[in-house]
Amino acid sequence: MKNSPPFNPKFPFMLHGGDYNPDQWRHVPGTVDEDFSLFPLAGINSVSIGIFAWTALEPEEGKFEFGWLDDIMDRCASRGMAAVLATPSAAKPNWMAQKYPEIRRMTSPSPIWGGNLSPLREEQHTRHNHCFTSPVYRAKCTEMNTRLAQRYAGHPALALWHVSNEYGGTCHCPLCYAAFQRWLQKKYETLDALNHAWWTGFWAHTFTAWEQITTIDPSVDGMRLDWCRFTTDQTVDFFRAESAPLREHTPGVPVCINMMGFYDGLDYWRFAPHVDVVSFDSYPDYHDRPDPEHPAAAAALWHDLNRTLKQKPFLLMESAPGPVNWKPFTRLIRPGVHRLKSIQAVAHGADSVQYFQIRKGRGGSEKLHAAVIDHVGAAQAPQTRMFQEVAQVGKDLQALAPVIGAATPAKVAMIYDWDSRWALEASAGPSKYAKECLRHGEKHHRAFWKRGVGVDIINGDCEVDGYDVVIAPSVYLLRKGFAGRVEKFTANGGTFVATWLTGVVDDSGLVFQGGLPGPLRKLLGIWSEEIDYLYDDETNAAVFADGNLAGLNGAFALKNVCEVIHAETAQTVAAYGRDFYAGKPCVTVNAFGKGEAWYIAADGGRELLDAFYAKLIARKNLPRALRDDQPEGVAAQARGNENGVFTFVSNYSGKPADALLGSTPRVDLLSGATVSGKVTLPPYGVMVLK
Ligand code: GLA
Ligand code: ZN
Repeated sequence: MKNSPPFNPKFPFMLHGGDYNPDQWRHVPGTVDEDFSLFPLAGINSVSIGIFAWTALEPEEGKFEFGWLDDIMDRCASRGMAAVLATPSAAKPNWMAQKYPEIRRMTSPSPIWGGNLSPLREEQHTRHNHCFTSPVYRAKCTEMNTRLAQRYAGHPALALWHVSNEYGGTCHCPLCYAAFQRWLQKKYETLDALNHAWWTGFWAHTFTAWEQITTIDPSVDGMRLDWCRFTTDQTVDFFRAESAPLREHTPGVPVCINMMGFYDGLDYWRFAPHVDVVSFDSYPDYHDRPDPEHPAAAAALWHDLNRTLKQKPFLLMESAPGPVNWKPFTRLIRPGVHRLKSIQAVAHGADSVQYFQIRKGRGGSEKLHAAVIDHVGAAQAPQTRMFQEVAQVGKDLQALAPVIGAATPAKVAMIYDWDSRWALEASAGPSKYAKECLRHGEKHHRAFWKRGVGVDIINGDCEVDGYDVVIAPSVYLLRKGFAGRVEKFTANGGTFVATWLTGVVDDSGLVFQGGLPGPLRKLLGIWSEEIDYLYDDETNAAVFADGNLAGLNGAFALKNVCEVIHAETAQTVAAYGRDFYAGKPCVTVNAFGKGEAWYIAADGGRELLDAFYAKLIARKNLPRALRDDQPEGVAAQARGNENGVFTFVSNYSGKPADALLGSTPRVDLLSGATVSGKVTLPPYGVMVLK
């Protein structure tokens, strides 16, 4: 990963700001003055504006009002603040939804998407529910975005385009079905090819005309996979159409969409080439679990994905300085945790900390959602705990200016592939547990995160050269060329690790013939014959052979999934301890060229993976942010650029913990202290060592 310039070189600072809705306060004079007087107190240097402002910008069809937005843009400019200007397509106006019903989505008819076999036109409600195909909506967006871009082209505050908001969902209207049919026709050319790919002879569902194809039939699982791909492509297409005027009239201004991590509805890899910077909305669940490291490890995985998508720093576009209003159960975040999770994002590659939201509205469904500025009024707002914690982050980000653009080195890549997830979810058979790809990936990733080893999150068609270790956790669908790339990588000395349910289907969702794991059979040196899905109260055991290459001893408990495999050219490293397959291999390694290919055939949970990767990290001498193992709760990450190496050390637990920093004295950019050796971090404490 190379060092990168700031997301917009005209704004060479870490953005600190967030969603700001002055459009909702136009009838309350003085509010905007108050807000702008509070911003410096919180170190706010950016606002994201106009995200849900269509009716404020165009109250009636063809009648435009930009005066209020001019005022905000000018206020930003006079203070050197960065305006993140949105296009308002995420929430369509009532007048438009009433006049042009086609812009409203139709619900899914298929039971697998919660439908009831008859698509219905939605009434106008909430947001994020416009049809992505509707020519009317596309024209309305083009008109609005052209006006915005023309008006603010060259405006000194315009730092970034925030296109729409959290694109997502599907539409099952006739326009979308026609677009789906055209998309399929382009992909398959003939119905024969489509019928083969979808195996439609099953239950006599062979398609004899393109127009017969909808999304109704859950028995055609290949259709579901292609519908998911189409939905991504159609959303990308909508995005490109709505950003065309921005590209045309404000060519130097970067464009982004705010993404939602591992959101299941969109393959963000297909978005990545079309955005200039990745931006991400992060809402980790701090404190709702007994395992204090878990939320931090999970958030680390999201951040690593966002950084890898464009192999450069990303923006933390939304985060909450306190409790959100949409989780089933919301604890207050403890003092210090806001700072902790904000700096964590920076540690993994964010060059900003932005919020939802700057000021709480008085009404609407987000009036009780955390914000920087509380309802209490301008005089007392700065004394609120949230405001003060935000102000602390503002100071921290100034101290972290040298980190801007710094790279995050990663010698490990883990595959998370939306196609594979969709194909697995669409397949009946594997247990519910087995289908939770993200949960499995988290356990692999966490073993590296805990040891300060950088991990990139890649998909099944990324390049793997340049990594030392490539991990394929339950990569059920293999893309064309995947096996060849990984064979080459391993032959050249790489370490490949795959687990149960890897390599079952091809990119149409058709099961590989000739024995699983299909094209990986040679590389892994195994044949996977059957899979045993265990009841919750059942276990098996992985019993490690003496002197095995994994370096593990004794037995590890197995749960949930036990794949019955045969070692062909591979060596058995551990064998099952029980059941009719006792003695058969459950962990294997195959020597392949200069490298090694591992297969973990059963679910040993975190215990097995953690122990396995601890040994692997040591054996492969993988670079670590701190050399020593850290106590419970403490983890470290590194970023580096021409200003130096920055080691972020955090205590994610609510108890003091002794971080082991090594003997070289280094300066903590946040406190100014010079530290080395064993240093006690307070609960939720954080340091950034240079
Ligand atoms: C999302 C949306 C925001 C807001 C927040 C609330 O991320 O993008 O508009 O609704 O959630 O947490
Ligand atoms: Zn539609």
